Amino acid sequence: MWERAIDDAMTKIKRNIERYPGLFPHIAGKEAAGEKRYEWGANDDWIEGFYTGMMWLGFEYGGDASLREAAASQLDSYRERLEKHICLDHHDIGFLYSLSAVAQWRVLKDEGARELALRAADKLLQRWRPRIGAIQAWGVRDDPENGGRIIIDCLMNLPLLFWAYEQTGERRYYDVAYRHAHISRRYLVRGDDSSYHTFYFDPQNGNALRGGTHQGYRDGSTWTRGQAWGIYGFALCFRYTKDVRFLETSKRMARYFIERLPEDGVVYWDFDVPIEPDTPRDSSASAIVACGLLELLDLLEGGDPDRALFADAVQRKMKSLVDHYSTVRLPDAEGLLQHGSYHVRGGRGPDDYMIWGDYYYLEALVRLSKGIKGYWYE
Ligand code: GLY
Repeated sequence: MWERAIDDAMTKIKRNIERYPGLFPHIAGKEAAGEKRYEWGANDDWIEGFYTGMMWLGFEYGGDASLREAAASQLDSYRERLEKHICLDHHDIGFLYSLSAVAQWRVLKDEGARELALRAADKLLQRWRPRIGAIQAWGVRDDPENGGRIIIDCLMNLPLLFWAYEQTGERRYYDVAYRHAHISRRYLVRGDDSSYHTFYFDPQNGNALRGGTHQGYRDGSTWTRGQAWGIYGFALCFRYTKDVRFLETSKRMARYFIERLPEDGVVYWDFDVPIEPDTPRDSSASAIVACGLLELLDLLEGGDPDRALFADAVQRKMKSLVDHYSTVRLPDAEGLLQHGSYHVRGGRGPDDYMIWGDYYYLEALVRLSKGIKGYWYE
């Protein structure tokens, strides 16, 4: 069952490469001839790494050299982007360079890719705000709205720093990632295991101010993709640090997520939004959680009481994604997963292909099929 879905994904990735040479899929597409399409453009958003990462997964899965060449040929655009600082005033440097430069290093042991990834990690370090003890998510230093703001998504950017520590032995990478993970756990995860999307601190003295949201339904709600980033992100923090508090947090957040799954195993865009017939889903959140649960299953002891719950949730979720959300039955589609949502409240991409949804869907499939686990750790 997984193999058929993977074969379909390979066909679509290769066709997109041929059809849109040198371009990257952007958020919130358009419709052509009644079908949703990606909008294609330059390497200038936070999401390009997911497309490159899909090519690496595809190459590792099937050995198709055209996928390796397509992925490697994009490295120059990531290099240019870093050198010219093109749209990099945000923490998603981690997503961008983990799935391009680090992936290329892991798969090909390419020294140029390693050197680029280390420079990207240095740029991410520049976002460390010592008064808060955290990485600033968005905007430039002293940005009036975002200067003291952390967001839960950042947990998935930390593997770039942990990787840089492994490569160089320099503690500064590890310490920033470890301290950021701790402050995220303390302020973004609530006592009932739900999460804030974002948290504000006073940038001058580091005082904790309040939780809030950007892409969720309202300030105290739980944005499902934020919860998903937390599940996978904290599991990876445990992988790197062996601090069991991160493992426990990931598990707690996973139970919260699974207990609130709708009948078909694929979440709506926020756990607190009223459910109407046209309430958008976020298939990408469910794909991220499938990967996070696979990671947890790898980390947990054989007798852990949550194993059965997590294993069952992975199967249920992935079967539903393949059967009801994927484009397996739509041979001309550009995306792999339908019904993702980006920023429903902001009116951006409320029901579309999301390239990170496609990436995590494929990551989960190749992990289930062949144990290929992506590029977040060795
Ligand atoms: N990291 C941004 C998002 O999940 O939309």
